[in-house]
Amino acid sequence: MSAETAPIYLDYAATTPLAPEVLEAMLPWMRHQVGFGNPSSSGHAYGREAAAAVEHARRQVAALIAADADGVVFTSGATEADNLAILGAVRFAMARGRGRHVVSSRTEHSAVLGACERLRREGAEITLLQPDRSGRIHVEQVGEALRDDTVLVSIMHANNETGVLQDVAALARLLRPHPAVLHVDAAQSAGRCPIRVRDWGIDLLSISAHKLYGPKGIGALWVRPRPRLRLEPLQYGGGQERGYRPGTLPVHQIVGLGEACRLALQDLTRESARLHTLRARLRGGLEALGSVRIHGDGDMAPHIVSASFPCVHGEALSLELGGLALSAGSACSSARPGPSHVLRAMGLPDSLASSTFRFSIGRWTSAEQVDEAVAAVANALERLQPLSPLAARWRDGEPLDALHEY
Ligand SMILES: Cc1ncc(COP(=O)(O)O)c(C=O)c1O
Repeated sequence: MSAETAPIYLDYAATTPLAPEVLEAMLPWMRHQVGFGNPSSSGHAYGREAAAAVEHARRQVAALIAADADGVVFTSGATEADNLAILGAVRFAMARGRGRHVVSSRTEHSAVLGACERLRREGAEITLLQPDRSGRIHVEQVGEALRDDTVLVSIMHANNETGVLQDVAALARLLRPHPAVLHVDAAQSAGRCPIRVRDWGIDLLSISAHKLYGPKGIGALWVRPRPRLRLEPLQYGGGQERGYRPGTLPVHQIVGLGEACRLALQDLTRESARLHTLRARLRGGLEALGSVRIHGDGDMAPHIVSASFPCVHGEALSLELGGLALSAGSACSSARPGPSHVLRAMGLPDSLASSTFRFSIGRWTSAEQVDEAVAAVANALERLQPLSPLAARWRDGEPLDALHEY
């Protein structure tokens, strides 16, 4: 793929390119002469230098989410962080007879839903809340679902398919008098939306480097250090990362995550405002095409627009949009084909879910690219809609909602 023929990248929610500054920060820690020491080798300078770099990165991660640095546990990404948080917290509580009930939602990432499903097979009871039509879970719903034996509530911050933001600060306030701990999957929001772990009172929070211009294969789980929150580890070994995640630390990856967090924090206000403006341009452009349904409203992450195109075949539209690198539904679950569980939970019929695309923008997206993308969609719809019997009925005055039984 050459730069001239490369499709316009509109899949930043799936992954982001590595920021050049991050690559530069990582390189010394991969070179032969310096930086290769094992951070656990405290007996010599090689190890001590590596350990200092890890601790520096730990502080950079903590700064992005306004949390204490000693709560940061490095993992391989948000999937592992979600699993460690959910399996770790619930197994720890169940083993001590403190309860076995978990509250989460139908629109969570499959890393959260998969961990909940695993716990169900281990004897936990899982309540998965139903979102409203815009994809939002209301704090009152969580309040009603809470029981005396609830040990964990896991609700994501920004949804990876729609960009809908949940009020996790309000959730934390709700849970303050309750012994259940709050886990938040912030893989999509970290670096794009302000997060204040300490002020809000979040107990566990997952992030991933490759969603914020860092390298793939590294992320973090923040685990409340005071009062100390205990988790059952997923693996056993040399006791690194307070025993929660043993194994020799990948220093270059950790340095990359730290630098990505530093950059994200430095640019947070400006970049988030720029993305909100671009997102409004994209949303407005698509809406102006008429036959489109945009998902999610109210408080939204700045980088995602999820749009359904009624009266066209999803696969045909996907072929027509070959010049755009987009996701049909969510790339994060593309290993499991079929209609998206998020859109289904929001009440979308499968026929409409299958012609839904996620446009996600980021650091290198320009206004011109957004306009080009809208024009490409307009052209594709112009070609495809005349072929659809539904479109004919729609032109004859039948409302879209009736056509798709929405
Ligand atoms: C909300 C959310 N959680 C978790 C993940 C998994 O992250 P990772 O790829 O770092 O395992 C993703 C993306 O794939 C995501 O969007």
